[in-house]
Order: sequence, then C-alpha cells, then structure tokens
Amino acid sequence: MAGRVLVTGGAGFVGSHVVDALLTAGYSPFVLDNLSTGRRENLPPDVPLYVADIRDGAEVDRVVAEVRPRYVFHLAAQISVSRSVREPDYDADVNILGFLRVLEACVRHGVERVVFASSGGTLYGEVTHPATEDSPLRPISPYGLSKLAGEQYLAFYARTHGLKAISLRYANVYGPRQDPHGEAGVVAIFTRRLLAGQPPIINGDGRYVRDYVYVEDVARAHLQALAVDLPEPFAAFNVGTGVGTDVNRLEQLLREAVLTVAGDALPAPPPPPQYGPPRPGDLRSSILSPDRARQVLGFEPQVSLPEGLRRTVRWFAEHR
Ligand SMILES: NC(=O)c1ccc[n+]([C@@H]2O[C@H](COP(=O)([O-])OP(=O)(O)OC[C@H]3O[C@@H](n4cnc5c(N)ncnc54)[C@H](O)[C@@H]3O)[C@@H](O)[C@H]2O)c1
Repeated sequence: MAGRVLVTGGAGFVGSHVVDALLTAGYSPFVLDNLSTGRRENLPPDVPLYVADIRDGAEVDRVVAEVRPRYVFHLAAQISVSRSVREPDYDADVNILGFLRVLEACVRHGVERVVFASSGGTLYGEVTHPATEDSPLRPISPYGLSKLAGEQYLAFYARTHGLKAISLRYANVYGPRQDPHGEAGVVAIFTRRLLAGQPPIINGDGRYVRDYVYVEDVARAHLQALAVDLPEPFAAFNVGTGVGTDVNRLEQLLREAVLTVAGDALPAPPPPPQYGPPRPGDLRSSILSPDRARQVLGFEPQVSLPEGLRRTVRWFAEHR
C-alpha cells in the first residue's frame, strides 16, 4: 500500500496533476483547498476534497487528524507576484502563517514527509545560465520572500521535529488546466487568444527568457520526492529543464501547435502578435538546472516544449 497523501492546493492547476499522478501510482490522495483559484472540476469525483483555508489552524488540524496522511504535499498558496506587492500582509498570511499551520498539524499527527512547492524563478532572480540549488537566493518580491521563508521554516521543522522535508523549486509550469486569468500563465493566455482568432500581446520586445516545464513532468517529480532516501532532513531541488525560451519563440511554437491541433476548426489563421509595453519588474532571464534532481531523484523532463504545447492547445480547444 503506497499510502495516504494530503495535497493542499490540490484543486489547483499543478495540484490536480499531482493528484492524478498519485492515483496512477497507487497512492490515496486527499485534497485540502479553499477553492479560491482551484476548482472541484479539476479533480476526479471520487477524490475526497476538504474545502478549508490553511489560515484556519483548527480546520487544518481537524482535516489532518481525520485523513491521517503519511505524506503532505503543500501547494496551497497565494501565487500572484503583483498581489504580493500590493498586499504583502495577505501574501505572508497565506504563504507563511498558513504553511506554519499545516506544518504544526503535520508534527502533531505524525506526518513522515512534507514536500513544498517553491519557486526557482523568484528565489534566484535574474540568471542567464541555469541556476543550481547553490546559486545565491535573492528574492525581490514579497511572494519570493514568502517562498524563501517557507523553505526555511520547513528546514527548521525537519531539523527540530524529525520530519523529512523536500522543497521543489519549480520553473515556469505550463499545461492543461492552467488558469489564463492569472498573470503567470503566458501559455494559457496566448493559447486562449490564438484559438479565439485574437493576436497575442507580447510585453516589451519579447526577449524575456524562461524555463518552461510541462505540468506532468512536475507532478512526477513529487512522486520521486516521496521515494528518495535522503540522509539529511531537508533538501531542495530545481524542477525545470535547463533550457531557456524567449516569449517571441514561445509564441511561434504555440502558433504552430494551434495550427497543427486546431487549424481545421479555425475560421482564419490567427493574426500576428502585437507588442505592448514592457511589464515593470519582469526578469530578463530565468533558467533552472535540473542536474541535482536528475542525479538524486531520477527526474528527467520527458515532454518537449513543442509536444507539451500541442497537448495544452488540445485541452484548451476541447474546453473552450
Ligand atoms: N504555476 C507555476 O508556474 C508555479 C511556479 C512556481 C511555483 N508555483 C507554486 O505551485 C503551487 C501551485 O500553483 P498553481 O500554479 O497550481 O496555482 P493555483 O492557483 O492553480 O493553485 C493554488 C491552489 O491553492 C488554493 N489556495 C489558495 N489559497 C488557499 C488557502 N488560503 N487555503 C487553502 N487553499 C488555498 C487555491 O484554491 C488553488 O487550488 C503554488 O504554491 C505556487 O506558488 C507555481
């Protein structure tokens, strides 16, 4: 029996793919989510969903006591960088205090291992070569600061309370179920516009480089983080591809994917992109080295960017 796993934020984009991967691997997933950005429809109907807020310590404790998970994946978060700038107290409330409530409940109820969804891009900042886990951490937004604090609290709980703890520092995750209304979902936003016959709007000159990793590859890294035997109580791993792609190239690849997957259903070829003003504060370049995850977890990104984009377009075309 592979074990019971509580996934906080499991009704969201990444979390729901993690739930799918757990089911496929024979685990029993349970979800705690307040449905602020997550959706019930993202989950298979038979997966138990506890609608609760991680800021409510008594509720979190009740859920963990009832589920009695062996493992906890913590993905619930305030994910908007710009909201974190406008409302740093809200960001810290969810991403730091909420996480502490989850960790307290984990300690009280004997959880063996906690895996935390961290963010490589916001932790390392501007990097032109793939950042390794030993690169300097220099978050500049409250969101980045709260992810860094989350990692450090996690390391503290691991050292002090005997948990095993792993932080997965994601690159830019894309794929089916991504919310196009969010600000980080450039793939989802462009896909929606191309399918609707509208021009994608590229910010600035479009030479902003990111490391795009397919969501099912990210989900698989979570399972590998359960299986690995680590000597130390806490470890962090990048979950990316080591390959940078700029927005101009991404737009071309997406356009090709749309024409391949949905071209016959479009009334006309999508119009060319338009260029808008740059977004203040956007990093020029963010790429993560997957070498440590490859060596220690056995992580290997399996879905190439063109293939991942085709799968994403197919999903959006079916869910328009
Ligand atoms: N998508 C990316 O590219 C990316 C990159 C780096 C890190 N991350 C991290 O991955 C995790 C998942 O992000 P996502 O992209 O799937 O976003 P998402 O918004 O789809 O998922 C977040 C989930 O958390 C839930 N949630 C939010 N606040 C909550 C609260 N107070 N109590 C309970 N549930 C709450 C939401 O309803 C949602 O289901 C987050 O921790 C995010 O910071 C994502």
